[in-house]
Order: sequence, then structure tokens, then C-alpha cells
Amino acid sequence: MANTLVIGAGGFIGGFIVTACLEIQLPTFFLHRSTSNPSSVKALKDKGAIAIEGSFADKELMEKKLREHKIEVVICVCGGENILDQLVLIEAMKSVGKSTNTIKRFLPSEFGHDIDKSNPVEPGLSFYKEKRMVRRAVEASGIPYTYICCNSIASWPYYDNIHPSKLTPPLDHFQIYADGSVGAYFVSGKDIGKITVRAAEDARTINKSIHFRPACNLFTMNKMASLWESKLGYKLPRITVSEHQLLALAAEKKIPQSIVAALTHDIFIKGCQTNFSIDGEKDVEACNLYPDIKFQTLDYIFDQYALHLNSSKPLIMINNKPQPQLLEAHLLNNKL
Ligand SMILES: NC(=O)c1ccc[n+]([C@@H]2O[C@H](COP(=O)([O-])OP(=O)(O)OC[C@H]3O[C@@H](n4cnc5c(N)ncnc54)[C@H](OP(=O)(O)O)[C@@H]3O)[C@@H](O)[C@H]2O)c1
Repeated sequence: MANTLVIGAGGFIGGFIVTACLEIQLPTFFLHRSTSNPSSVKALKDKGAIAIEGSFADKELMEKKLREHKIEVVICVCGGENILDQLVLIEAMKSVGKSTNTIKRFLPSEFGHDIDKSNPVEPGLSFYKEKRMVRRAVEASGIPYTYICCNSIASWPYYDNIHPSKLTPPLDHFQIYADGSVGAYFVSGKDIGKITVRAAEDARTINKSIHFRPACNLFTMNKMASLWESKLGYKLPRITVSEHQLLALAAEKKIPQSIVAALTHDIFIKGCQTNFSIDGEKDVEACNLYPDIKFQTLDYIFDQYALHLNSSKPLIMINNKPQPQLLEAHLLNNKL
């Protein structure tokens, strides 16, 4: 049971990771800033995680805290705007490792695609280039690492920067990317957390990329739309969002909207989650690694969304669309 530090525990993916750590009673530490949401910090403390205040962009502080708490595993789940700050964190881990040799594993903020194999259009590519710089720095540091390539979070893949925790699948019409025939893997946050935490302690995953490819959750947009219609009990109109439209939004270079459009293009037009094989010696597949884990199916997750829709609460307007109340949708997603 390694002392594990989660950086970004108050964030979207970080919430799943820290919950999974606490579920298996790992000695769990989390870093928060003085500006982090106090109720989220309190909630994590109440669940049994140990708070460390500071920023991972502060090398001296990180060295001190890593030593003081004898941290062995560091899982960073910082958001897109802080990716390069991990270079400072790596330097801090290197210094600690030299003197005390305590850092046994680093999982950098990845939690998406294999960023060495995918080449999205800009500005997605620049985002990947930053994540690649972090990979190269970890590899050069000698700190054992694991890259989590969990593919898409299990929810409707909106292309226009609607966060996956914020909305249920569509209630008025589907926006289908091109002909809707390209597949992607959809994984629940709960499974991302569970597998990440297991992998962080698993000797078989040292210096490897773990790819999440559960066959039960390989869906095209068309198949996903039909699944959601089967839960709603009625059909919705399908509107095509063309490759050209996605590229035009990406070309606007608005951050983060254009990054989301570029990655949507990479997934649903270029097939970046399925167009390469994972038989390299540095690649492992999550279902092969952990055959005992039963992935939550998209079918089950959409059932939960549909149950939520039965709530008597009135719909509210978001982006001019009637939607179920946000708070419940957010809470529901965090439980999945
Ligand atoms: N596969 C998918 O579908 C998917 C979906 C979403 C994200 N992702 C990936 O998952 C990773 C995490 O993204 P996210 O959306 O979960 O992030 P997020 O919600 O933006 O959360 C980021 C967290 O990092 C913390 N943080 C940022 N800078 C910090 C600093 N200097 N010191 C300490 N804490 C700091 C923030 O703390 P505060 O609370 O203080 O702000 C926040 O808790 C990213 O690599 C992203 O690309 C993948």
C-alpha cells in the first residue's frame, strides 16, 4: 500500500482517482491550492484523504512535501492549462529520488488518447505536444511511469466544449459527426479511477501505456444515438456535423473550444482510438491486464441518465436547449 499523492483531486478526472484510492484504503494524500474550492477540500478530508496545501509548480515545496509524507506514487490529473507545470514536478521528484529513492511511480496527466500515436489538427496538436514534452521528460528522468490512455469518458461526446459532466445525452436532436460510422471507446469515470489506481501499483505496467479498449463500449455515433433513443422511447432528428465544420471550428483557435473540436475530428473522422494496434512491447490493454474488472457498460450508464430524466424537476435552458437540471446531472456523472 504505497503512499499516494493525487494532484488535481478536486478536478473532473481527479475526483474519480481519489475516490478509487480511498475505496481500496490506500494512504491517500491530495494537493490543493489556497484558492481551491474549500467545500471540495473538506469533502476529500472527510472521506479520509490527507490534504497538502500548495502548488505543484513550486519545486521546493513539492520536494519538501514529497519527502515529509514519504510519497511513493504520484498521480497528476491537472487540467490542460497546467500540463507543462509537470516539468517542475518531475524535477522535484528527481531531487527526492536522488536523496531518498522514494518515488516509485509517476502517472502524468494524460487520461485520453495515446498522444504519441495521434496527430490531431491544431490546436489539438499543440496540446498533445505539451503532453509529449512531459512524457519525454519523465522518460529521461528515470522515474518509473505509467501512461493512462483511457479514451473517451462515457457520456455523449459534444464537440462544442460542453463538459462531459454537465449534460445528459441530447433531448432534442443528435449532432452526428460525418456519417457517424467511426468507433470510439467510452469508459466510465469510476472504471478510469479503479484501473488507474490498480495500474499505479502493478509491476506489469512500469514504463508502459495502458489502453482502455473494452469491447462492450466500442460505439459509433450512430450506434450510440440508437442506444439513447431506446432509453428515451422515441426517435430524435439526426443532424450532420461535417468534417469541414469541425475543422472550421478548430481553425478559429479559440481555447479550449477549438481543442475540443480538433480532438472530436481526430476521434470521429480520423478514428484515432482504433486506427493503430497495441501490440508494442510498451503497450498493454486494460481488459487483458485486469480480466476480473467488469466495465460499466454504456447501456447501463445511459439507463442511469434515463432514470435521472424521470425526475420531476423542471428542465432548464442551456445553450438555448431545454436540459435536465445541471447539479443532478453532474452528481450522476460523478457516481458513474
Ligand atoms: N478522456 C476524457 O474524456 C477526458 C475528459 C476530461 C479530461 N481529460 C484529461 O484528464 C486530465 C485532467 O483534466 P480535468 O478536466 O479532469 O481537469 P480539471 O477538472 O480542470 O481539474 C484540474 C485540477 O488540477 C488542479 N490544479 C491545477 N493547477 C494546479 C497547481 N498548480 N497546483 C495544484 N493543483 C492544481 C486544479 O485545482 P483547483 O481546484 O485549485 O483549480 C483542479 O483540481 C487532463 O489531462 C485532460 O486532458 C480527459
